[in-house]
Amino acid sequence: MSATDLHRLAYQVKVRDVIQETADAVSLTLDAATGPTASFDYRPGQFLTLRVPCQDGPLTRCYSLSSSPHSDTPPTITVKRVPDGRASNWICDNASPGSVFDVLLPSGGFVPRDWSAPFLLVAGGSGITPIMSILRTALAIHDNPITLAYANRDAASVIFTRELDALARDHPDRLTVTHWLESESGRPTAAALRSWLTAAPRSHAYLCGPAPFMAAARTALEANGLDAAHLHAEVFTSLTTDPFSAAPAPVISESATTATATVELDDETHSITWPDDTVLLDVLLAEGLDAPYVCREGTCGGCAFTLRRGEVHMRENHTLDQHDLARGTRLACQSEPRSDTLDIVFDQ
Ligand SMILES: Cc1cc2nc3c(=O)[nH]c(=O)nc-3n(C[C@H](O)[C@H](O)[C@H](O)COP(=O)(O)OP(=O)(O)OC[C@H]3O[C@@H](n4cnc5c(N)ncnc54)[C@H](O)[C@@H]3O)c2cc1C
Ligand code: FES
Repeated sequence: MSATDLHRLAYQVKVRDVIQETADAVSLTLDAATGPTASFDYRPGQFLTLRVPCQDGPLTRCYSLSSSPHSDTPPTITVKRVPDGRASNWICDNASPGSVFDVLLPSGGFVPRDWSAPFLLVAGGSGITPIMSILRTALAIHDNPITLAYANRDAASVIFTRELDALARDHPDRLTVTHWLESESGRPTAAALRSWLTAAPRSHAYLCGPAPFMAAARTALEANGLDAAHLHAEVFTSLTTDPFSAAPAPVISESATTATATVELDDETHSITWPDDTVLLDVLLAEGLDAPYVCREGTCGGCAFTLRRGEVHMRENHTLDQHDLARGTRLACQSEPRSDTLDIVFDQ
């Protein structure tokens, strides 16, 4: 098995319990069934990639961990039904204690770095899952003040209601939980959200939810003066690729202009020749290196690296925000070189 195949080595998780959170959402607590248990080392805000055995054949989907790695709770994902959605409905209807799923290692960069700043956590519907992991972690091991603003269709759709009430009661000096219910307050437009989404100075805002809600929340926060570099967002979409199957052999151009790059990966430094019409991930895989990736379509952030020197052009970017870009974060599955020499580290 080549080093590239090793990255694809999926392991399996077994469902310990299924918790019916609402009529439309379940949480699955998970145990590693095969492979290294260390695979369950994850950071708050990261996701698992699952192969879901749907009726018409398996589909690959990402689900954020809603648990905190700093609690005794087993790793947990929370899945909400999407109308006519294939994998989400399959999970809600069929997952039971003992069900086994193929998964890839926890991945993703929706992970706070500055835990001292005040947090404004903004969630819509199922977007509460990574937000819950961040909230549980902040309360468990940090001291920063937190406001959670959580939007839903109606009271019956609110996931984690009882726990959120209990957390707010237990941390009255640090945590404020505020709800927006469409059934009472109407559609959460940017104009309407401005009075709801107010952030303390120096706040970092973390947003996750349906695309129209996120766009409205982002506009409201920026209109309220929140520094765009302090705004972090996680986008939920369905993958169209299958990261469990063998990656197509990378095509490396021979005629193009090339750059030279130094790449730090898994504590080793490699020097590569990188054609300017080829994405970094393909070059690394062609070299036999076990570079991280999940979707290969600029959606999941699983291939993120830090650009320490040089310039790249990203073909697509559906996941990194301004703050990530300013910090030098780029996507290996989308980056072509735009300078002669580059210095890169996979440290995300
Ligand atoms: C990083 C990340 C983390 C995520 N975390 C979570 C999480 O914690 N919890 C969670 O619930 N979800 C999460 N998601 C979303 C999840 O991965 C799935 O996208 C979601 O469950 C819907 O998948 P599905 O198979 O049920 O729906 P799909 O079958 O993919 O359908 C989605 C929608 O598109 C429509 N549709 C499907 N096919 C077509 C077509 N051919 N033409 C037109 N419309 C179509 C469907 O009607 C449906 O409304 C996350 C996604 C990402 C990328
Ligand atoms: S592998 Fe998902 S963004 Fe690159």
